[in-house]
Amino acid sequence: MIATSTLPLERLQTAFPGRLQFDEPLARYTAALVGGPAEVFLIVDSADELAEAVELLWQDDIPHTILGGGSNVLVSDAGVRGVVILNRARRVEFQLSGQNPTVLAESGANFGSLARQAANKSLSGLEWAAGIPGTVGGAVFGNAGAHDGDMAGNLQVAEMLHRANGREIWPVEKMEFVYRGSVLKETPGETVVLSATLKLEHRAPEVIQEKMNKFLTHRRQTQPPGASMGSMFKNPTGDFSGRLIDVAGLKGTRVGGAEISHLHGNFFVNTGQATATDVYNLIQRAKQIVAEKFSVQLELEIALIGDWNEATWIVR
Ligand code: EPU
Repeated sequence: MIATSTLPLERLQTAFPGRLQFDEPLARYTAALVGGPAEVFLIVDSADELAEAVELLWQDDIPHTILGGGSNVLVSDAGVRGVVILNRARRVEFQLSGQNPTVLAESGANFGSLARQAANKSLSGLEWAAGIPGTVGGAVFGNAGAHDGDMAGNLQVAEMLHRANGREIWPVEKMEFVYRGSVLKETPGETVVLSATLKLEHRAPEVIQEKMNKFLTHRRQTQPPGASMGSMFKNPTGDFSGRLIDVAGLKGTRVGGAEISHLHGNFFVNTGQATATDVYNLIQRAKQIVAEKFSVQLELEIALIGDWNEATWIVR
């Protein structure tokens, strides 16, 4: 039934019979647990399904948004027009033979759990990603990183779907990775990450475990548990957003149900009943006060998704 959407969805319906949902609330699919409904919602279970869905949407010119772990996004209270695809393409294949082991992971695979699986196989390289929320695809898109690592240091190749060229294999150089960014982030709507092949190394399990434990302990001690979007802002060159927000005296500041964590200034937590608008207003307040006090313009690390009014877009 296409009762609540006027989009030309016939081909998508035929390809995914009975699987389109309408006005599906998105909050439960996000780490911050906020956000309104998707006009149309589709869960894909493999990279092939992801590619098929996106190709149909491109052909029919239907706006769409791909949601991975929902950990680095703020979905507006008004919700998202068009089709939201929840990426649950999670196949993972380790290639252990030879000197240069790798893992191929579909883009919807959970990155933190992939890091654990690698460690359990005595494969080193992803220790930094232990405890990271989000998916492999999201990590490629935003060049996720922590401690001594980032996606740029691990990726060998990615299978991409390109709007004009179809399926392509991209070597890491083509991603043009920078701190928390990539060419994919600069060209929204042109490409989709289908899978990523990551470089690993054989190493003694106790060495891997020790490193992972150290990172996990740092994370537990410095980052709040519960509903948040991870780091809200990128770190400005030569400084730390968390430190600036902290020194500005903003920890514990609240708007509605959204609060700047007492533990880490760059984490904005949903204390239970936050709306996306609460979080957005808290972002504005932090940006404004940090700009006034330190003349630093904080830049969002997270992406704003969905229908925001014009004023909202000024913060991007
Ligand atoms: N700091 C304060 N007050 C605070 C928070 C931090 O003074 O409230 C100081 C710390 O004492 C430290 C510095 O700021 O001297 C950096 O803090 P931290 O070690 O927590 O790292 P971060 O730069 O805030 C980055 C990543 C995190 C990643 C950690 C650990 C960014 C934007 N964030 O945080 O990544 O987990 O390093 O490696 O680069 C994410 O991207 O979502 C994320 C969580």
